[in-house]
Amino acid sequence: MDKKYPSIIAIDGPAASGKSTVGVLLAKKLDYLFFDTGNMYRAVTWAALKRLKRVDNEADVTHLAETVQIDVQPPSVEDGRLADVLVDGEDITWQIRSPEVDANVSQVSAYPGVRDAMTYQQRRIGNRGRVVMVGRDIGTVVLPDAELKIYLDASVEERARRRYEELVRRGETADYEKILKAMKKRDQIDSTRAVAPLRPASDAVQICSDRISAEQVVDQILRIAEKIA
Ligand code: CDP
Repeated sequence: MDKKYPSIIAIDGPAASGKSTVGVLLAKKLDYLFFDTGNMYRAVTWAALKRLKRVDNEADVTHLAETVQIDVQPPSVEDGRLADVLVDGEDITWQIRSPEVDANVSQVSAYPGVRDAMTYQQRRIGNRGRVVMVGRDIGTVVLPDAELKIYLDASVEERARRRYEELVRRGETADYEKILKAMKKRDQIDSTRAVAPLRPASDAVQICSDRISAEQVVDQILRIAEKIA
């Protein structure tokens, strides 16, 4: 590739705003690593539900986050996954997409000690460069020096519709109204928490993906990237 691009690209935004779809396409085009930080918070939540049976004891959940081994690796199975997610060696890639994890992940992600443990690992990966990292606080907290920051948004109805279709495609039962309600709740917790709340970095480029395809969003990002590199 003869054009120059920023080495660290941060994409933040609310649930199902298209961060992963766009991030994967972008990383492929640039031959960068795609890293979805949501997988890590989901993995801790899954481990807490499994081992502690609850997520409301902050000290226990934090201790778990500090000691559990989370690995996010290139996909080893062709079943639509974007990465393998392992907890202490166990493949939990699909388990972390369950409604139960969805319903508890924002509470777990609001614990400062959990965020510290995850942020530390994410910075190590991000600072190696040639990376597209997606999440809620990448441009604001994890990699504030990223050369390019995107804040990807879409209306909550559109995002709920996308999540609904994703579940149906995977052959799971889905209820649009329930998904919409759960998504609003998660948005609310994520954007009002005390530590690293979901918000655009002051130097982020904001893109609304309501009426444009993922490919069009990627083209927009590439045009912006070419200008700043
Ligand atoms: O896939 P979806 O957009 O629904 O969510 P996700 O990106 O997998 O993130 C799941 C949850 O993890 C979010 O609702 C946040 O509570 C938390 N999260 C976070 O706090 N910080 C990040 N950098 C990424 C995710």
